[in-house]
Amino acid sequence: MPLVSMKTLIQSGREQHFAVPLFDVPSLNAAIGAVEAAEAVNAPVILGMYNAWFDLPEAPAVCAGLHALAQGAKVPVSLMLDHGASYIQCIKAIRFGFTDVMFDGSSLPFAENLRITSLVCEAAHAVGVSVEAELGHVGLGTEYEVGEARAHFTQPQMVQEFVSASGVDMLAVAFGTAHGNYKTTPQLDLDLLTQLNAVSTVPLVMHGGSGLSEEQFKGAIQGGIAKINVATHIFNEIEARTAKSAADGKTNLFAIEAIIRESFRDLCTYYLQLFGTAGQA
Ligand code: 13P
Repeated sequence: MPLVSMKTLIQSGREQHFAVPLFDVPSLNAAIGAVEAAEAVNAPVILGMYNAWFDLPEAPAVCAGLHALAQGAKVPVSLMLDHGASYIQCIKAIRFGFTDVMFDGSSLPFAENLRITSLVCEAAHAVGVSVEAELGHVGLGTEYEVGEARAHFTQPQMVQEFVSASGVDMLAVAFGTAHGNYKTTPQLDLDLLTQLNAVSTVPLVMHGGSGLSEEQFKGAIQGGIAKINVATHIFNEIEARTAKSAADGKTNLFAIEAIIRESFRDLCTYYLQLFGTAGQA
């Protein structure tokens, strides 16, 4: 199965109410765990590379490894730049062979977000790469008190113009989730999500998947979310398993590498089943 853009499968997810997960993979070992999970449940999967890792000197080597892994997988695997910080970073991702890029202009004024997203779409589409943008702003879980974040929620009246003028393929929206660990229990505005889905011609994406209940995930997918990003929950699990292993006196390299791979495999399997992605490859 080739390395593929997830655009078509995410569109199917919107129609059939499943969501394709993006798992941020900081290393090849982590990615191997995610792909093993996807193969075990016959699901498509997106391997995300976060923008901060992307500019490290070793990024070309890591990307080459991810590329070979994806090409050898038995299920569709996409490589996606997560939260691309600039036009240049998106172009670099395309050069590295990524199939999908996110340009995150959510902290910019609307017009500037639209301008750069449009440029990214023009370049990416010319070579068959699909693009995600963000409208509204999904902040950090530790950043806002409940209620404060509402000021950054996506406004339905802005969606149509942004999507049609930019040509973007999928849109990340803010309706109550946040990145990282939550300070207080997250509250999702599913009525707002329904409105956003009604005005958007492209599938919607939910960031900040860690820390939500199974009911919240199901409500979001029912409300039109077709791609969900998850990172922190898996990182927390690795931390907990590493601490336990250390307490048991096992701190050697192979034990630690196994914890990373197995944590990714176990939690990615859980999310692929929860999101209805299992069996969709
Ligand atoms: P979490 O780390 O909160 O799961 O969010 C991941 C994410 O949205 C990456 O883009």
